[in-house]
Amino acid sequence: MSAEAHRYAVFGHPIAHSLSPQIHAAFAGQLGIQLSYEAIDAAPAEFEEAVRRFFAEGGLGANVTLPHKEAAFALATERTDAAARAGAVNTLTALVGGKIQAHNTDGSGFVRDVTERHSLDLRGHDALLLGAGGAAKAVAWALMDAGVQTLTIVNRTPERADAIADAIGEPARCHTRYWDGLDGECFDLVVNATSIGVTGGTFDLPMSILQDHSTCYDLCYGAAAASFKGWATAVGARYFRDGLGMLIEQAADAFERWHGQRPDTDPVYQLLRQRF
Ligand code: ATR
Repeated sequence: MSAEAHRYAVFGHPIAHSLSPQIHAAFAGQLGIQLSYEAIDAAPAEFEEAVRRFFAEGGLGANVTLPHKEAAFALATERTDAAARAGAVNTLTALVGGKIQAHNTDGSGFVRDVTERHSLDLRGHDALLLGAGGAAKAVAWALMDAGVQTLTIVNRTPERADAIADAIGEPARCHTRYWDGLDGECFDLVVNATSIGVTGGTFDLPMSILQDHSTCYDLCYGAAAASFKGWATAVGARYFRDGLGMLIEQAADAFERWHGQRPDTDPVYQLLRQRF
């Protein structure tokens, strides 16, 4: 079959910076799969029409990034459990009869990176999640599924954190705190799912929340992770991990869904690690 018969894409705005075309091309190369994977820039007002056109013209799968993850959830005809929980999706798949299935691989990609690449067994951990946007929501569910002992969510707008905890509905394990109400609490995993590193705020958190073996994890990577890394280093976190591995694992989950084969993510991680 020709490459045109296997058309995939990532939609975002902006999208020029996206590593997804490179990651999917590397996976396809490993497995001898022929495909085309393009980056499509669509402004919010044009997103739905652009996606529908892509699938109507034979597109088989699409990744979706900022700012379209909620719009992608809304336009789908079917939603997986992971999609329904997050209310925002990064993976769209063409189904027979013109239907479009929405799925979210952010949570599974995060957990795979943490547990397999960084060898952190999440079971029994006390985790703190900073932020309550779309990415935080997917990660909150994934942390619960992975067996954390407790999950505490804080957010600048507390109502958004409350909404996630309410949806999870396990108050003994998952609860919220005010951002400035963490004195006396202690966590062995702190996950940054805010956009503070992009928008330029500071991480105003007590250093006493970390234990000497604690890991800090930023869903961002590159320059966007510098600010949280600076905080983690200053307060003595044992480990700092950025979101480059999660980016590659969430791509691998989408790839496996589309092609039925799991790529080896390590060579792609090593390659991109040289740049970020
Ligand atoms: P995404 O879908 O990538 O998670 P988002 O929905 O825009 O993006 O969420 C961004 C998160 O970063 C939110 O939790 C936001 O807090 P609010 O819910 O109060 O908006 C958080 N955030 C962004 N800038 C922040 C800042 N300067 N200080 C604290 N939190 C910030």
